[in-house]
Amino acid sequence: MGGVSHELSSIRMCSLFDAYLEKDALGKFLNKVRGDNQSVERLEYTPLERRMVASYLLDELGEEFGVILRGIIHDRDTGGYTLGLESVTEDSDEFVIFSTAISHIIGTPNHDSMSGKYYARFEVKDTDNSDAYLRQAYRLFTLHTDGTFADEPTDWLIMHKMFEENAVGGESRLLHPDDWREFENYANHPLASYKFHYKAPKSKNVDQEVHRPTFFKQNDKACICFFDQFVYPESIEQAKYLRGLSESMEKDDNIEELDLPVGNLVALNNLFWLHGRAAFEKNKDHNRELLRIRGHFND
Ligand SMILES: [Fe+2]
Repeated sequence: MGGVSHELSSIRMCSLFDAYLEKDALGKFLNKVRGDNQSVERLEYTPLERRMVASYLLDELGEEFGVILRGIIHDRDTGGYTLGLESVTEDSDEFVIFSTAISHIIGTPNHDSMSGKYYARFEVKDTDNSDAYLRQAYRLFTLHTDGTFADEPTDWLIMHKMFEENAVGGESRLLHPDDWREFENYANHPLASYKFHYKAPKSKNVDQEVHRPTFFKQNDKACICFFDQFVYPESIEQAKYLRGLSESMEKDDNIEELDLPVGNLVALNNLFWLHGRAAFEKNKDHNRELLRIRGHFND
């Protein structure tokens, strides 16, 4: 593959692909971005420009780079990758432009209701008074999939670390269903295909309510849709099933912890990878900024 080398990030059966992009190619990509006067504002206002920055990256890394990235994210045994800008820039606007390029190589971003844009940037700091655990630093953020309360498909997500200071802990926690020891118990349970009611808290700016099964099949493989904070069970039996499922995942030995450097992103297939975040150690000066993009596949 032109300009790309890789190594597997762990020896477990289902592992993220850890890609290294050549600095020279990334530098040429950024020169093209600057030469064409691309900016975050231009990408926000003019959707076609988002595909143009994707084309700049493919010009430098080869069309095959896109084919391989899509292949990895569809591959059940991998289903995701980490990559970054290899310190060729520290400009956070250029991080946004890079994530935009990667997202448009994977598919098409969904509208993010929290920000009103195709992406969202948010901080995780010492204090937070929001109505969900997303921005609360000192709590375990439980394993879940994204888009549970959205009425459009959320096939994939990108999380890009934009900035961080005074942070200890807060690793991304990831679990692949094929590595989850009690997966079969919950996937074969009578409530596995029950369409649970999902509703977003106010901060998400989403009014609709949706009904989704926890387990469903794609290409004959069991996929999962679950978020303990947003599901509304209608009986004690249903609540016990959902609580048991969440606790089973949280105690699983095969949870992978990922410590992403600033400037790097992780892309995950959201149809099966579960993600969450470890708690940070208390520090009043702690700050992290993340960018997220969630979207659907085009094929
Ligand atoms: Fe999430």
